[in-house]
Amino acid sequence: MANDRVHSLQKTLGWAATGVGVLLVANALYREFTRFRLDGKVVLITGGSRGLGLVLARAIAARGAKLAICARSADKIELARQQLERSGAEVMARTADVTDQEQVKTLVNDVVNYYGRIDVLINNAGTIQVGPQEAMLVDDYEQAMKTNFWAPLYAIHAALPHFRRQREGRIVNITSIGGKLAMPHLLPYSASKFAAVGLSEGMHAELKKENIHVTTVVPNLMRTGSPRNITVKGNHEAEYAWFKTAASSPLLSHDAEIAAQSIITALEYGQREAILSLSGKLATVVKGIAPGWVGALLTVADKFLPGYNGSLEKKKGYEAESHLSQGGVTVLSDQAALKNNEM
Ligand SMILES: NC(=O)c1ccc[n+]([C@@H]2O[C@H](COP(=O)([O-])OP(=O)(O)OC[C@H]3O[C@@H](n4cnc5c(N)ncnc54)[C@H](OP(=O)(O)O)[C@@H]3O)[C@@H](O)[C@H]2O)c1
Repeated sequence: MANDRVHSLQKTLGWAATGVGVLLVANALYREFTRFRLDGKVVLITGGSRGLGLVLARAIAARGAKLAICARSADKIELARQQLERSGAEVMARTADVTDQEQVKTLVNDVVNYYGRIDVLINNAGTIQVGPQEAMLVDDYEQAMKTNFWAPLYAIHAALPHFRRQREGRIVNITSIGGKLAMPHLLPYSASKFAAVGLSEGMHAELKKENIHVTTVVPNLMRTGSPRNITVKGNHEAEYAWFKTAASSPLLSHDAEIAAQSIITALEYGQREAILSLSGKLATVVKGIAPGWVGALLTVADKFLPGYNGSLEKKKGYEAESHLSQGGVTVLSDQAALKNNEM
């Protein structure tokens, strides 16, 4: 009797394991079958002249896609175009300020006129201001909102008619963990990235029925080399030093190439959201269940950041370089800056 029961339990467990196995294989096959292949696709990357945009451009071109890139600096966008073409990529490069809606419309129409279509829009162009909230004026918030929120919206609105005509489209919005947790000394940036996360999540929900997949990418700090080009306010040298150190530290920041591969995977599989690090995933879960703890932690972090010295002057990161921001792990950021045209 007892043996019969054991046999029957073994049989049931065997069937259950087989069922789970079949489901997993079917799911993997379905994912592969429905995977979006970049080969031959037209991909527009805003801010493709340096940093993450350039790293993404290299990796996406290596998958056989045709590129369109833009930035404000004519020299930098031309340099990126030449480098990408030398490695075999097909590239359309334009100077455009994505905070100007007309320029964004023209850019997207130029891409369609040049290649005949647009398959993917990657809203990557962004701006970072570092400093205490006392140093941040309304203008700083407006600048952050223009680049990190309004520009992605302008580009989405410009691309949507083409995606609808083609009955397919992919949008990737590069937001930030700062769009999930309000980081001290990054307030205009964080506020604008919160807005970008909301926009991206809402677009995902409403556009899926039209076969337009929207992916919200949430990176931690990345070693793109961008600290040199951020805006710093308050105690410039100290603010720049903490940010550059954090953005260079392997404990706190991602390797930019690995981040780009994760972003491409999220794009290919049409993921709703890609939080790129385990710490980012944990932080968002903990914030959901115990927001008070995360609030307390950020308050403690604020106490360790530089005090306000009364200055409202803006400086670029490279103008705030000092002995505090050189040597140690910051070497990794300098190396990334060289590699990704941030110099
Ligand atoms: N690096 C990080 O640690 C990190 C972490 C989380 C999220 N992110 C996000 O990732 C994205 C890329 O960051 P990154 O580190 O690569 O920054 P980056 O090196 O400063 O690159 C920004 C790119 O955007 C372009 N850009 C900026 N404003 C523009 C405008 N108004 N019009 C057109 N192009 C503009 C820049 O070129 P021009 O200046 O010549 O216009 C440049 O090509 C941003 O959205 C950023 O917020 C970065």
